Amino acid sequence: LKAKSLKEISRTDGLKGLEDIRVNILGKKGPLTGILRGMRDIPKEERPKVGELSNHVRDNIVAALEEKKAELEAAQTAKKLESETIDVTLPGKPVTQGQPHVIQQIIDNIEDLFLGMGYQVIQGPEVETDKYNFEMLNLPKDHPARDMQDTFYITDEILMRSQTSPVQARTMEKHDFSKGPLKMISPGVVYRRDTDDATHSHQFHQVEGLVIDKNITMADLKGTLETLAKELFGDRFEVRLRPSYFPFTEPSVEADVTCFNCMGKGCSVCKHTGWIEVLGAGMVHPNVLRMAGVDTEVYGGFAFGLGPDRFAMLRYGVDDIRNFYQNDVRFLTQFSKKG
Ligand code: PHE
Repeated sequence: LKAKSLKEISRTDGLKGLEDIRVNILGKKGPLTGILRGMRDIPKEERPKVGELSNHVRDNIVAALEEKKAELEAAQTAKKLESETIDVTLPGKPVTQGQPHVIQQIIDNIEDLFLGMGYQVIQGPEVETDKYNFEMLNLPKDHPARDMQDTFYITDEILMRSQTSPVQARTMEKHDFSKGPLKMISPGVVYRRDTDDATHSHQFHQVEGLVIDKNITMADLKGTLETLAKELFGDRFEVRLRPSYFPFTEPSVEADVTCFNCMGKGCSVCKHTGWIEVLGAGMVHPNVLRMAGVDTEVYGGFAFGLGPDRFAMLRYGVDDIRNFYQNDVRFLTQFSKKG
């Protein structure tokens, strides 16, 4: 039995097989247990001898099992180490670094500029109430100018904001003018029920600015917009204001900048006018100020709203707004800050 067992043990080449052998020989149904169980049938004087012998055999087998187990485990570890070696001489894989989305880069750029001029950057909810998105901005419930912004309504009173102006209304209402003027910009995403095409997207960005103080005039507005245009496009860019209409400003204007394509000479991009429209603005309507609790005898201000998507299209000559939202990295990585 001893010889046979030791042979079996030395032949196995797996830990699982070794365990099977151990159970077979030493287990409850194994031959050794059988011998010990059969002790009572053996004449008394022979029992010590048989006992001693079977103990000896068992010790030998256990020792052999342990030795073999250690050997197999060592082999397994060696094999594992070998398969996990790292060849440090192989060339590394390049790590691609992410970057802010091109629209976010433009927003960051605008934020930096206005922070430098003492403005606050304030954000607000994208799911808004009718009150702040429209009513507080001089657009009561059945005002025809609501048609200018086709809106996603969730209920009669709750909607996806169609502009970032509600952030201005909320801030104006809370502002303590005895502590100083209000100067803010509100960047963010807005929603409109437009069918997506090259120049429309149901979701896009706005950055709106608002300044409320004593003695604010349209010259302050124009100077601010000129600073913005020169910062975003370059020193050679001029701004021109054209009369327009917005319910929350009076007078209202649309601002054009020098056509980036022909630098004002006239081309097909600017329909031979030399100018490209970039934003809406105006002097804040007294009704808007009054609704926010601002004393119109003392304070007045200007507001403007621009679309970073449109700015990005102009600045980089992108002809389809959908490119910004399809997130094709081949498109987006062209606007790497480093590149
Ligand atoms: N919120 C306006 C819009 O989306 C833009 C705007 C803001 C116009 C401030 C004038 C003054 O149409």
